[in-house]
Amino acid sequence: MRHNVTLIRTLQFLACIAALASLRAADPDWPVNGGRNNIRYSPLTEISPRNVGRLAVAWTYDSHDDFYGSEMQCNPVVADGVLYATTPRLRVVALDAATGREIWSFDPDPHRTMHVRNRGVTLSKDRLFFTYLSYLYALDRKTGRIVRSFGDNGRVDLRQGLGRPADRMTVSATSPGAIFEDLIILGSTVPETLPGSPGDIRAFDVHTGKLRWSFHTIPHPGEFGYDTWPPTAYKISGGANAWSGVVVDAKLEMVFASTGSASFDFYGANRLGDDLFADCILALDARTGKRIWHFQGIHHNVWDYDFPAAPNLITVTRNGRKIDALAQITKTGFVYVFNRRTGEPLFPIGSRKVPPSPVDGEKLAPSEPVALKPPPFVRQGLIEDMLTTRTPEAHAAVLEMFRKVHSGGMFYPPTTEGTVIFPGFDGGGEWGGAAFDPETVLLYVNANEMAWILRLVPRDEKSAYMNHCASCHRPDRRGTPGEFPSLVDVGKRLSRQEIVRTIQQGAGRMPGFAALGAATIDDIADFLITGKDSTGHPEVTAHRDPNWLEYRSDGYNKFLDPDGYPAIAPPWGTLNAIDLNKGEIRWKVPFGEYPELAAKGMRNTGSDNYGGPVVTAGGLVFIGATDFDRKFHAYDKRSGKLLWETTLPAAGNATPAIYEAHGREYVAIACGGGKDKMPSGGKIVAFALPER
Ligand code: HEC
Repeated sequence: MRHNVTLIRTLQFLACIAALASLRAADPDWPVNGGRNNIRYSPLTEISPRNVGRLAVAWTYDSHDDFYGSEMQCNPVVADGVLYATTPRLRVVALDAATGREIWSFDPDPHRTMHVRNRGVTLSKDRLFFTYLSYLYALDRKTGRIVRSFGDNGRVDLRQGLGRPADRMTVSATSPGAIFEDLIILGSTVPETLPGSPGDIRAFDVHTGKLRWSFHTIPHPGEFGYDTWPPTAYKISGGANAWSGVVVDAKLEMVFASTGSASFDFYGANRLGDDLFADCILALDARTGKRIWHFQGIHHNVWDYDFPAAPNLITVTRNGRKIDALAQITKTGFVYVFNRRTGEPLFPIGSRKVPPSPVDGEKLAPSEPVALKPPPFVRQGLIEDMLTTRTPEAHAAVLEMFRKVHSGGMFYPPTTEGTVIFPGFDGGGEWGGAAFDPETVLLYVNANEMAWILRLVPRDEKSAYMNHCASCHRPDRRGTPGEFPSLVDVGKRLSRQEIVRTIQQGAGRMPGFAALGAATIDDIADFLITGKDSTGHPEVTAHRDPNWLEYRSDGYNKFLDPDGYPAIAPPWGTLNAIDLNKGEIRWKVPFGEYPELAAKGMRNTGSDNYGGPVVTAGGLVFIGATDFDRKFHAYDKRSGKLLWETTLPAAGNATPAIYEAHGREYVAIACGGGKDKMPSGGKIVAFALPER
């Protein structure tokens, strides 16, 4: 018996060495979005805590195509010395990774007037895939030319094959797909409003563009989960889409995705039930798309608490054994960890009771899951003690507002009086995702701490504009400048065709409304051009419309003090390192500043931040993300100590890529800004140690 144990120990030891060796075989590239296994980890070691203070700009690439309100959320990919990225106007560019020199550029639509979000591209051997509006394009990696043999003359229309009329849907993909053998597996971006488009996860043949499999996230009759919706939901409902991308485990032949809310996201009277597979972690067979396991994070979600990032594929140790696992961050601040193969939770999951909704027609789930470990990485639920004390006036104003709305914890129902949503619509965690370090088993996640106020308003059934547009552009069409543009006199700025196209396809944070149909869209365009509202189209006013809902939301409203700062006490943003063996927060630092408050001595408040971290074997966590101070930061990955920072040309609201070119380590980040009314930018900046 005894020597058996010794033998097992020896074998375990050897396996361990082999695993470490494979980690150490430094990968010079950043070949996939989010890095290999979506853990935003680089095995490179040249830049370290000792020398990071000498980091300097190695090159800057300027796309020259940023414009007011544009963003760059792209995580570049790098292979064989070439860096591929998307620009604010969604050109795809190939750059020499050592110099930033442009090798080629591809523009899918030179006449574009609108803002399109994009988080990057997918490489497969000689091809590059990316999505612009409704089209998945295939380009030749070397030349940037369209591969005409793919799909319909080089592209696949993502609205096709969803079982509904294509011209009535708005389907895109802000996050790139993932490759498994000869498949590109893709989630999608669809409106969170009704009428909706379904969020099928699909696999296309990389050579031909042919659809090879679909997974219906809104199940069809006979499929698992069909009974968690009303019977016709699969024909008319929308959302439940994997908007933050998918991750492939080639060895297990599995693909993992995390899905978003069902539409309409704030009021679910016509989607009563748990709404599987909205707000789920999904493990699918990569070859067939068949479901292997799932976990639903929110049942019948009405808080916009969808999963904001694709899972990280990680390895943890339990009882001395290594387990292939996945970690999932959330907007609510929970981190879930599961056995990757079986879906067994590796920390206990409890449940919390949900108060019933006071709003007509709504029926919430009786309880929601909660992760009991690790502790949440943001504060949850807002009480008076947590309100701002920045100035006595700010405190008084905020207190008065707070007492008029409901604040009953994370799962308090949306109401017509107003409900505090905290953590907010943008987390907690967001699309920048988390980084994971195999060496320290720490998960690094940046978080917003911002409360929002959600109010349901009865719909004005007479006007399509009031029903579909007023929540953002306001009933008087004046919008909220900086966030939602005013549409007063929009006819003087844009042609009728441009207006119609924007309504059909959406732009930036605006969903597309193709599903309204040409007649209604025409009526709305007339209204915007003439100012005369005759949009009481029968289709909209008839209560027979299956997508009719009694309530809409009054828009996306942050809970701010009268000076525009968060209504809660700091921290307003944090960076966290969470030990996933123990389920403990190892360190936590305030993240971001408002330069004008810092100048007055109010430092380290934290701030809104978008874009993710990257961790290196060299011992560092690199992250931009902070909206207002435009900083790029390097932290000691073990202690959370800030070791280096610099100011970027525009906020680095994106995830960096780390790679090696000609034997030198580079850290590159897209500096697109454009969040929270901050200036936009079009540059990619790469940092390296000065040449010896
Ligand atoms: C969820 C919020 C939201 C809703 C709902 C919404 N929009 Fe928008 N809309 C936006 C945002 C954000 C922009 C700016 C997009 C950008 O960044 O380019 C915009 C831009 C526009 C523009 C272009 C304005 C310009 O000056 O370039 C038009 C036109 C427009 N919206 C019309 C509509 C109409 C009509 C509806 C209803 C059918 C609608 N929107 C619904 C958020 C919204």
